[in-house]
Amino acid sequence: MAHGMERLITKLRNERRLEAEEYRALLVCDDGEVSRKLQKAARETALARFGNRIYIRGLIEITNICRNDCLYCGIRKSNRKTERYALDKAEILECCRTGYGLGFRTFVLQGGEMPEHSDRMIEDVCKAIHAEFPDCAITLSLGERRAESYERFFKAGATRYLLRHETHNPEHYSLLHPAEMSLEHRLQCLDTLKGIGYQTGTGIMVGSPFQTFGNIVEDIMYISDFRPEMIGIGPFIPHKDTPFAGYGTGLVDSLPVDIIGLTLKLISIFRLMFPDALIPATTALATLAPDTALPGGRELGILSGANVVMPNLSPAGVRHRYSLYDNKASTGAEAAEGLAKLEASLKRIGYRITIDRGDFSGRLTRQSL
Ligand code: 5AD
Repeated sequence: MAHGMERLITKLRNERRLEAEEYRALLVCDDGEVSRKLQKAARETALARFGNRIYIRGLIEITNICRNDCLYCGIRKSNRKTERYALDKAEILECCRTGYGLGFRTFVLQGGEMPEHSDRMIEDVCKAIHAEFPDCAITLSLGERRAESYERFFKAGATRYLLRHETHNPEHYSLLHPAEMSLEHRLQCLDTLKGIGYQTGTGIMVGSPFQTFGNIVEDIMYISDFRPEMIGIGPFIPHKDTPFAGYGTGLVDSLPVDIIGLTLKLISIFRLMFPDALIPATTALATLAPDTALPGGRELGILSGANVVMPNLSPAGVRHRYSLYDNKASTGAEAAEGLAKLEASLKRIGYRITIDRGDFSGRLTRQSL
């Protein structure tokens, strides 16, 4: 096994942090034996903390209307080919009812960045979900908003918020986003969310255009300081109607790297850094490593230390319109109706679904008080 790598894995496992150069050494190392050891250490850490239980979150894609123009994203505002939709309160509640019946106790409302006048509607929806399903957690993933808006949603019953920082390098950030957006503002939003008391999630895409290993190390150092309760890591997958249509997945400072392998490595590193964190096996990972191969991307994520999956609860008729990247999986085990299939595929690798809300245990939320 590559010299010194075993020592780094042991150090990360015991001390929960490494120096920047040490993270880099682990990331660039292409020895399969090292990846397997890292994966095993992360898996054992997750098993010791959570047992073989995997949390499920019902994902409701409430709108693909977006005021932003992120270059990688299929629902960017200049993509005229996307047919836009927005679910109304009744439709969202109906998704929750279906989800509740299936066993979901967390609903994730995700959507493009809506105009500010939508605050009222979001607040209203949170209140309605909270009133009808007081035993459920509400997670929002609605992008950058004003602090007052985040506060209103929190008061209305949302307790978790997902906002990936995407990259912690300002230049890289500016290559992925239009000029009106800034890393500084994204990070400010994350601080605000945490300050309000949300369980906060952040994360990155792996293999996004122009990304370097150095950028990923910067992301790890940021996440190490920020200490999010949730960490979302998925591969970049090009979308045909975006400026990055022709970009393959890969890092600019390396020979073509195995993006699935690198995504899994990062999941393992974050699990070792944060034994308690909620880390999903993302849909993008399941899409890039589909379950025609066994184990599929979702299972590989779990075997690398992930402990959450987020099946799709959106109405079947709109799923194809929430297309962030090409060929996004939304049926089969990625669909909430496919829970039995998901259960079976998790069982094959020795895991099972739990309907626990699974609040991050490191702090008390309003709802658990
Ligand atoms: N490939 C992979 N992930 C993407 N996202 C957006 N576009 C893509 C893409 N082309 C991710 C972003 C965003 C999350 C909701 O989806 O990281 O934060």
